[in-house]
Amino acid sequence: MKINQIITGNCLEVLAELEDNSVDVTITSPPYFQQRNYGNGLKGIGNEQDESEYLEKLLRIFWETVRVTKDTGTIVFNLGDKYINGGLSLLPYKFAIEATKNKEIFLINQITWSKLNPTPRQDKRKLIQATEPFFVFAKSKNYHFDLDNYLKHFDDLAKNSRKKPSEKLGKRYFDLIDNSGLTEIEKQKARAELKDTIQAVFRREIDSFRMKIRGIHKLAYGGQAGGRNNQIKNQGYSIIKIHGKKMKKDIVESPVETTKNNSHPAVYPLYIIQELIKLLSKPDDIILDPFSGSGTTCLAAQNLSRNYIGIEINTEYVKLSKERLQKEAFNHELFV
Ligand SMILES: C[S@@+](CC[C@H](N)C(=O)[O-])C[C@H]1O[C@@H](n2cnc3c(N)ncnc32)[C@H](O)[C@@H]1O
Repeated sequence: MKINQIITGNCLEVLAELEDNSVDVTITSPPYFQQRNYGNGLKGIGNEQDESEYLEKLLRIFWETVRVTKDTGTIVFNLGDKYINGGLSLLPYKFAIEATKNKEIFLINQITWSKLNPTPRQDKRKLIQATEPFFVFAKSKNYHFDLDNYLKHFDDLAKNSRKKPSEKLGKRYFDLIDNSGLTEIEKQKARAELKDTIQAVFRREIDSFRMKIRGIHKLAYGGQAGGRNNQIKNQGYSIIKIHGKKMKKDIVESPVETTKNNSHPAVYPLYIIQELIKLLSKPDDIILDPFSGSGTTCLAAQNLSRNYIGIEINTEYVKLSKERLQKEAFNHELFV
């Protein structure tokens, strides 16, 4: 198998030559429906007349990537939505719904990319579209998932920069517990949990916390607060732990790459792809991108000592990605 190469060709044909279970992770962004012309004529996908024809082609390629990805691997597809006749088409979700009908795979996360610099809208009767999904599919429960290495810079930042908590942290809650109408047993439990929570802040496991005590604080309003209200009613108190940036959520912030340094019109952020590669693979693993465009996935893989296989139909973009792979250095911007 050719590794560390960008192969020029139609991905459906090139994928057919790859063996089953031969790559560790697939990460890609296929052409969105009727969004752009990449100059690929009839062979490229994205400019079908019909939405269902596009979906059918896309799913055919998706199943090929599932076939070539190892059982311990994952397949990540990034897709964008489009307004058709004034309404959102929901095509990314139609794709995900079709894909998950097959029990060979399951969707482990839908990570939302929140764009820090989305394209402004002319239409003043709609909000600016500033998000896109990255669907992360796995083939088995044994998928590689290195949570500690994902967005690690936030953990390091939190550890290094956060001021030492005040010695007075949580003291007022001890006074409130003492003066509350809780039973002695409830007071003992509340003091013990408060002590543990304060220690968790000192150990930098959580950012901060708030406590609510029966008879002193008002119950929270609204459906989601139901569980917490029940806790306050039944055990006399509730502690809300605030994890801040350390919590690894299914949302990632990053600007859209500008065309200033890259003549490809639809480049996805190197930063996000690097983070996904750290989450889903190990050094020396093989990362595949069947729609490699300007080579972002391949560059991210190279930066992180992984192998790559890129497939791109347009020779101009193949040339561009080869130049990028030779020239561009590691890009590890932080979006804090
Ligand atoms: C959304 S772009 C990918 C951009 C890429 N993620 C990047 O950061 O540069 C999709 C790419 O798929 C290519 N493409 C379209 N149909 C293809 C096909 N059947 N096989 C291989 N590449 C194809 C297009 O030329 C385009 O460069």
